Amino acid sequence: MRADVIYSLLKPALFRLDAESAHGLALAGLKLAGSTRAPAFPASLSTQVGGIAFPNPVGMAAGFDKDGEVPDALLGLGFGFAEVGSITPLPQSGNPKPRLFRLVEDRAVINRMGFNNHGAEAALARLSARQDRPGVLGINIGANKDSTDRVADYATMARLMAPLATYLAVNISSPNTPGLRALQDESALTGLLDAVIEARDAACGDDRRPPVFLKVAPDLEPADVDAIARIAIDRRLGALIVSNTTISRPALASQHAGESGGLSGAPLKDLALQRLRDFRKATGGAIPLVGVGGIAKAEDAWARIRAGASLVQVYSAMVYEGPGIAKAICKGLESLMKRDGFTSIAEAVGTE
Ligand code: FNR
Repeated sequence: MRADVIYSLLKPALFRLDAESAHGLALAGLKLAGSTRAPAFPASLSTQVGGIAFPNPVGMAAGFDKDGEVPDALLGLGFGFAEVGSITPLPQSGNPKPRLFRLVEDRAVINRMGFNNHGAEAALARLSARQDRPGVLGINIGANKDSTDRVADYATMARLMAPLATYLAVNISSPNTPGLRALQDESALTGLLDAVIEARDAACGDDRRPPVFLKVAPDLEPADVDAIARIAIDRRLGALIVSNTTISRPALASQHAGESGGLSGAPLKDLALQRLRDFRKATGGAIPLVGVGGIAKAEDAWARIRAGASLVQVYSAMVYEGPGIAKAICKGLESLMKRDGFTSIAEAVGTE
């Protein structure tokens, strides 16, 4: 039976569980299903970003597979790339439960997980074991909550993970680790990126250096956007990932609307799209952008590409739409490309 059919049968039962247990079951299901071969996609969907060949532009965002347990199963579902993490140097348990909430009426999620993960050593063992498998693997790195030197944490993670990653994603935009987002400030950011790039270069040969992607918050002022764009160009980042969850609260209908943490899913869509446009303007197209936040359908992905995204990612919508979401978005993208007269994704980027 196809994964999306199984999901539609199981969804009512999963939605009766608390969100974190349901997520655990989804991961367990993917582990059981194992890593089937990734489906083939038409050449028109393949795209080159930061020197990496992506079979299609629809990726799984960070946070679903925090410990790198199922990247190949995700690629088997049709995602063009899987970003695992955020992973921190030491294991940490994250915030007290409950810390993950489904806002069903809003097709949204609020989380304050707080970088719960098994740490670098466990991830290294797991990801080394699948090192020779094909597929684009992003490894998203973070800092421990109690670290006294967060820059050193990112450098450690870059050194350890670079040899295993197709790209490294530096996450300084989680709202759930106090003080983390201050690393987006200009002087902190340059120091951080220099340390990450130096650690990556020391760990990898010249021809095997994964590009560094930087993941930013949607809650940024125009001056922050300009400064981050300048630094990204200057440090030759592979891409900017726009964006993480928001601490803002647009009008919400669900009972969990008042929970603290980062909001994702449908209510983030307009804000994430606007921030993407801001970054497109500020970078002038000099740095590729990854659009993420509230993407649920091909039309959303297409709008993000036309607004300047070379790639897109989804997370929250998979909770509501099920594991067939990547294939469905890809299929829709093919039609939308044809409708609008484009023969490749790259050609459509930033043409709105
Ligand atoms: C996330 N996200 C996230 N991002 C990240 O860089 N590191 C992480 O560890 C996590 N963890 C995480 C947990 C949960 C439960 C959610 C819902 C989200 C953010 C995620 O990658 C993405 O940027 C946002 O969720 C916005 O996309 P969607 O969910 O609206 O498609």
